[in-house]
Amino acid sequence: MNVRMHIWIRKLFNGGFIMGESMKGLTRSHRCTEVTEAMIGQTVTVMGWVQKRRDLGKLIFVDLRDRSGILQVVFDSQTLPKDLFIKAESIRSEYVLAVCGKVASRGPEGINPNRITGTIEIHVEEFRILSEAETPPFEVMENSGVKDDLRLKYRYLDLRRPDLQKNLMTRHQVTALTREFLNQEGFLEIETPMLTKSTPEGARDYLVPSRIHPGHFYALPQSPQLFKQLLMVSGFDRYYQIVKCFRDEDLRADRQPEFTQIDMELSFVEIEDIMDINERLLYKLFKEVMGVEISLPIPRMTYQEAMDRFGSDKPDVRFGMELVDISEIVKESEFGVFKNAVKNGGSVRGINGKGCGNFPRRQIDSLGDFAKDFGAKGLAWLVVEEDGSYRSPIAKFFSEDMLAQVVDAMKGEPGDLLLFCADEKDIVYDVLGNLRLELAKRLELTKQDEYQFLWVTEFPLLEWSKEQERYVAKHHPFTMPMEEDLSLLDTEPHKVRAKAYDMVLNGVEIGGGSIRIHQRDIQEKMFKVLGFTKEEAYKRFGFLLNAFQYGTPPHGGLAYGLDRIVMLMTGAESIRDVIAFPKVKDATCLMTEAPGTVEGKQLKELHIAPVAQEE
Ligand code: AMO
Ligand code: AMP
Repeated sequence: MNVRMHIWIRKLFNGGFIMGESMKGLTRSHRCTEVTEAMIGQTVTVMGWVQKRRDLGKLIFVDLRDRSGILQVVFDSQTLPKDLFIKAESIRSEYVLAVCGKVASRGPEGINPNRITGTIEIHVEEFRILSEAETPPFEVMENSGVKDDLRLKYRYLDLRRPDLQKNLMTRHQVTALTREFLNQEGFLEIETPMLTKSTPEGARDYLVPSRIHPGHFYALPQSPQLFKQLLMVSGFDRYYQIVKCFRDEDLRADRQPEFTQIDMELSFVEIEDIMDINERLLYKLFKEVMGVEISLPIPRMTYQEAMDRFGSDKPDVRFGMELVDISEIVKESEFGVFKNAVKNGGSVRGINGKGCGNFPRRQIDSLGDFAKDFGAKGLAWLVVEEDGSYRSPIAKFFSEDMLAQVVDAMKGEPGDLLLFCADEKDIVYDVLGNLRLELAKRLELTKQDEYQFLWVTEFPLLEWSKEQERYVAKHHPFTMPMEEDLSLLDTEPHKVRAKAYDMVLNGVEIGGGSIRIHQRDIQEKMFKVLGFTKEEAYKRFGFLLNAFQYGTPPHGGLAYGLDRIVMLMTGAESIRDVIAFPKVKDATCLMTEAPGTVEGKQLKELHIAPVAQEE
């Protein structure tokens, strides 16, 4: 019987369905790459997917893949019974096989130095096709150039790729080590509800309608913040949870609508204690997962210093190119844009693009466009030419002396491109902070395997919301003000600094936390500053405020974005690559096609009438 015939007969009997043999009597002895040279001569049973099949007529080579890697198995027509060899001829990509055979050396010409198992192979003695497979919509391999949308639609196939398998294994390692560390430090892992009331983390809530209470909704937690504080009131003292959080925000490379936090809270602590435990946790994670030794203590920088030097509260400190304030130098210049910015309380600052003086005009203009995306009204520039002269569209507005002072302040040297932004302070920070990152990207200033951790401390407690015309909490309303600033709460609330800290790695905010308010009078004052009446405060957070009346230990904590940590560890470009089943930019899941419509009956039970109809 030839192969075609064989396949045809099978199809006929199967009615075209994917068939497979059972596992009865079979036990896997090893994962593919657990088979080593030391085992030559032994019989092993391995199971996995067919990565590739090469048919040489009398010999068939199959690369068998499981989560550990790839192992070559050989079907030999000389040694296999005829029916088994015919069965082997029907093997195709992504079939699932169980293979039993002897470990053998490949011989010098067959060695593949790029594989752990490159010197050995299995000489098949018995095998089963556990499952056939249709031709997959794309080949299971890294960097295959397949469109993201297709990969995500068939995420279960995409996840067979070794790079994604490795990412999820790293993720597992991080959570396992985190649990191990925190358990040793006396933390208890305690779950908090998913169906709850809105938590104040500043994003939009995902809501779940109540069937039993018409018009009432649960909110999915944006974080376990209030519950973990209540656990402190209850006396658990050290809590942690590796927990899903939900935030209905616009998505980016480092943001998903559901993501995972490593969340912790501790009683009877100050900032130092929390930092110490967390530095040791990060040290362990990076040592054991990456072989990277973080040097402790992790440096600290105040929020204000981070903004002034890097234009960002999560600065990437792997490179310099710091912001320079030239307001004082240019405030009396003839250039209205600069002069007025300073006069109106704003500032003029610049960054020095070292060695970028040779950028063609087109590229300088594209930096201007980039700056405009962040709210700049323009981006002024000045090139220090090789002969020390200046080239700049705004040079004409400045005296020689003033220009020299500017260049000097910016440490400009021949070949440098100086870029300036004049505006309200916040805009200047944002524009130059982002421009700095953009230039570093274009100039490839950062190394991926360099890890620069930084605590950013002393965040402002409040920020002014133009939309709401009131102060809003920068972190959340339960964050403790710095004791030395408490008296400013009544008079100059915007100047109050918080006992809040973020953990930043290579320019990514991987975690954040604070010491909490545990005194009722301070909490009430805080609500007042935020514009809540007492009734409103109690209506929203009454359960917490009431709890605080019954003996509250001083407490504080922190939460990491697990996805972000794993993204940085694996070098993934997006947290999507470290989440098994992520969502895309418009918050849909391409595989399940969630969110979807539901039956009218279901809506009725939930007392919901959709306003918008699907087009
Ligand atoms: P925060 O809101 O800063 O703090 O969140 C903590 C960390 O969670 C990560 N993160 C996200 N990761 C992926 N997608 C998102 N949409 C997303 N949003 C946040 C970030 C962030 O640093 N309850 C406080 C913590 C505390 O005070 O203890 C909180 O949730 O890495
Ligand atoms: P203009 O006078 O508007 O033609 O601007 C002259 C130069 O100043 C151009 O290179 C602009 O990009 C730049 N410029 C305009 N507004 C600003 C600003 N707010 N900050 C920095 N540069 C600016």
